[in-house]
Amino acid sequence: MKIGITNLKGGVGKTTVSQNLAVCFAHMGYKVCIVDTDTNQNSLAWNGVRDEELPNILVVGATDSNALTKTVDTLHKDHEIVIIDGTPSLSKMTTRIILSSDLLLIPILPSGHDFRSMTQFFERFEQAKEFRNDIPAYFLLNQYSNNLNVHSDMKGILAQFDIPILESTIRNRVAYNKTGIEGKGVYEYQDIKAKAEMVRLTKELLDKAEALNFLQN
Ligand SMILES: Nc1ncnc2c1ncn2[C@@H]1O[C@H](COP(=O)(O)OP(=O)(O)OP(=O)(O)O)[C@@H](O)[C@H]1O
Ligand SMILES: [Mg+2]
Repeated sequence: MKIGITNLKGGVGKTTVSQNLAVCFAHMGYKVCIVDTDTNQNSLAWNGVRDEELPNILVVGATDSNALTKTVDTLHKDHEIVIIDGTPSLSKMTTRIILSSDLLLIPILPSGHDFRSMTQFFERFEQAKEFRNDIPAYFLLNQYSNNLNVHSDMKGILAQFDIPILESTIRNRVAYNKTGIEGKGVYEYQDIKAKAEMVRLTKELLDKAEALNFLQN
């Protein structure tokens, strides 16, 4: 399965979600890799400081949009799960990510500012659908709190897009920041709530993948 993690907005958690999903999948026994499409190469740097005792996750840099599909498909031949860590730019790369993925995950922060970039993203997504009209995509609410009205309002606002919201949400937790710096995922860290929410997200994605028949190479 090829999972594209994308959104035109910077700092919404694309890299955090890519790394944490990769770590969860690896601990569940899947052979997984990350394709880092961002010129800042955060996932490559994260892998550079990752402890060798931890499950190995190959991270490959791919900043040339013309080569993306080929890189992803080549890796997919011997990795059950390829995660594409997206770039925030409104560039050809975003369209390439959309078209190279079996399933798209769109992390979003529950704020109005993000919503505007969402509208731009949605336009790009609709354009890509002219080439492939069956692209399963899901919003993922990051740094989300159920008990904040302004956050739960976001669910209503997002309902106007033709993209469902995953049931799993991610809270704002220091664990994400810390593990990002240490080359780990929260699965490998002492915050059990962070670990539990990430496992829940991973399982929700596996359920979707199974329903869509994406898990055989
Ligand atoms: N749920 C969370 N709780 C706490 N911190 C978070 C959470 N999600 C992301 N962050 C932090 O927010 C910052 C931005 O996250 P991240 O780098 O994953 O975003 P991004 O979408 O990949 O950004 P860019 O577009 O610049 O690549 C990082 O410092 C990360 O540690
Ligand atoms: Mg990033």
